Amino acid sequence: MSIDNVAVIGAGRVGLTLARALVRSGRAVAVLGRHVDALPEPLEPATPVWEPAIAASDLVLIAVPDDAIGDVARTLARGGVIGAPQVVLHTSGLHDRSALAALYSSGAGLGSWHPLQTFPRRGGEPDALAGSPAVIEGDERALAAGRELAELLQLRPVVEIAADRKASYHAAAVFASNYLVVLADVAARLTRDAGGDQVPNALFLPLMRHTLAHLNDGPAAALTGPVSRGDAGTIARHLAALEGPERELYRALAKEALRLARQNGLDENAAQAVLAVLA
Ligand SMILES: NC(=O)c1ccc[n+]([C@@H]2O[C@H](COP(=O)([O-])OP(=O)(O)OC[C@H]3O[C@@H](n4cnc5c(N)ncnc54)[C@H](OP(=O)(O)O)[C@@H]3O)[C@@H](O)[C@H]2O)c1
Repeated sequence: MSIDNVAVIGAGRVGLTLARALVRSGRAVAVLGRHVDALPEPLEPATPVWEPAIAASDLVLIAVPDDAIGDVARTLARGGVIGAPQVVLHTSGLHDRSALAALYSSGAGLGSWHPLQTFPRRGGEPDALAGSPAVIEGDERALAAGRELAELLQLRPVVEIAADRKASYHAAAVFASNYLVVLADVAARLTRDAGGDQVPNALFLPLMRHTLAHLNDGPAAALTGPVSRGDAGTIARHLAALEGPERELYRALAKEALRLARQNGLDENAAQAVLAVLA
């Protein structure tokens, strides 16, 4: 298919990001919402009148909260505005094409297209798309359109995933993004407890950035610290200094770190000593 006219349903973080990037790449874009909203340049205001824009589009992107995708698909099906030549993709990391089940009888290509990136700001962040991966799932036409959309907006690599793997894939993305934030918060909190209010919020950022840079060579290569050295005495002191949920979190993560340390060739006696302290 050729992506020339796109209807984006949902004027939120992802919808506006995609809409702005598509306009920048020279495509005609209509942003559809539930009410009239002024949008950032160069977008036209969002409109609650969907039919003309949907009828004119070759690609419909649904960027609404996960729980609303089914409702939007049912609204489109009731309106009879989606036809066989079109492709409809939603942007959820969790759901697969079955969230669009109401549109099965339309004959349109159906699938999901997940930009593997975080978009925390309202208003759209088109620069965040280029160079981010796209994870796609769906029928043949949806996959082809998903690849073309990724190419157009310079997302790479494009990874195809089976429908029944989306929940574990999305949980993985939560580990990589959201729980990284949580770990930064735990680190800041523990240090505040130890050092008082003068500890800056960004204390751990240089360390985290440097660690992330080393991850380019794979997780095992990036691992340093007491578990990687088999330093059981240090781990015992950490556990004694922690309490409650932080201690449990430390213990669970240390067990995962031990898997990596073993891949790096940690001596089995040292590994057993670490396990004994963690038990
Ligand atoms: N944010 C991220 O980092 C990110 C990254 C990758 C993928 N995603 C996925 O992208 C999708 C959108 O997420 P988001 O973060 O962009 O959400 P968001 O910022 O909350 O925006 C959702 C938009 O959908 C509209 N909406 C809600 N229900 C609707 C309905 N029934 N009909 C029409 N419009 C409706 C909302 O408008 P109203 O003002 O009318 O409520 C809002 O403009 C989700 O599936 C999410 O999982 C998000």
